[in-house]
Amino acid sequence: MPAVASIAEEILEWKTRRRAVILAHHYQEPEIQELADSVGDSLELAREAKNFAGDVIAFCGVRFMAETAKVINPERTVVVPDLNAGCSLVDSCPAAAVQAFRKRNPGHVIVSYINTSVEVKAESDILCTSRNAIKIVNSIPAEKPILFLPDINLGNYVKAQTGRKNMQIWQGACIVHATFPARRLAAARAEHPKALVAAHPECPSDVLRMADFIGSTSSIIRWCTEQTAGEFIIMTESGVRHSLEKLSPGKKFYFVANENCNCSECPYMRLNSLEKLLACLENLEPRIELPAAIMERARIPLERMLAVR
Ligand code: 13P
Ligand code: SF4
Repeated sequence: MPAVASIAEEILEWKTRRRAVILAHHYQEPEIQELADSVGDSLELAREAKNFAGDVIAFCGVRFMAETAKVINPERTVVVPDLNAGCSLVDSCPAAAVQAFRKRNPGHVIVSYINTSVEVKAESDILCTSRNAIKIVNSIPAEKPILFLPDINLGNYVKAQTGRKNMQIWQGACIVHATFPARRLAAARAEHPKALVAAHPECPSDVLRMADFIGSTSSIIRWCTEQTAGEFIIMTESGVRHSLEKLSPGKKFYFVANENCNCSECPYMRLNSLEKLLACLENLEPRIELPAAIMERARIPLERMLAVR
């Protein structure tokens, strides 16, 4: 197996040859983040995919993120290191169930978290990410009933923050965040009494109640960088450690293990590797292919979300 340095050089060579851009989520391995043209949360990566000028996007994240990039760039090639990089939230929300809800409740506004399949996006009125969910719900007229899907914890958080009464919430959950136990966070606070707590809104409400800050991955990184405190307990996937330590040298970051894997890593995000990134740039496979008609329908709620600033 070639050394990391030589794989990195080969990736950069193929990137130039393919006129490609490498987009990476914060949950990717540090060596992938270091090679990426852009590292961000799901909203920032969707915006990057919109402003992109080359021929190919190599998307290092999970499949729904790469599909979003394809919906924005139907004429361009979007490749991924591993097509099996799914998401438990996507799996929790089949399009047929959303279509059935729509039939029964034609007056509801369907607000879909970006962690959904392209078919569910096509059934939605507007999308949101963890970064803009409160703003998106507030942009909907108060009298309109809402279905928020699929994340129950993000949905409950947004409902509490916006004070929306008429808002139904799907029962989906993230296998990483939803299994962070509040008692382990309490134990971490007892061990590090000076540490501030930053949490992703996919965490359960009893974890969120203990947080000093709640936000998307990029928002957590920015908030920790701005604080004068020196220690933080981070309630999200541990891939964010790379940017946290890079941007805040000298500060300490503690991660709490969940009850799913007894770790804080997303098994889907971690399927990607430098070797697979090189292979997808070289072979232009695996690539994201989606039916044109579905992409056209999914682009409407996606563009509506991107227009909300
Ligand atoms: P962000 O939008 O905060 O990056 O979150 C994406 C995600 O999948 C969280 O688990
Ligand atoms: Fe999906 Fe959770 Fe992984 Fe994010 S961390 S990609 S929500 S399974």
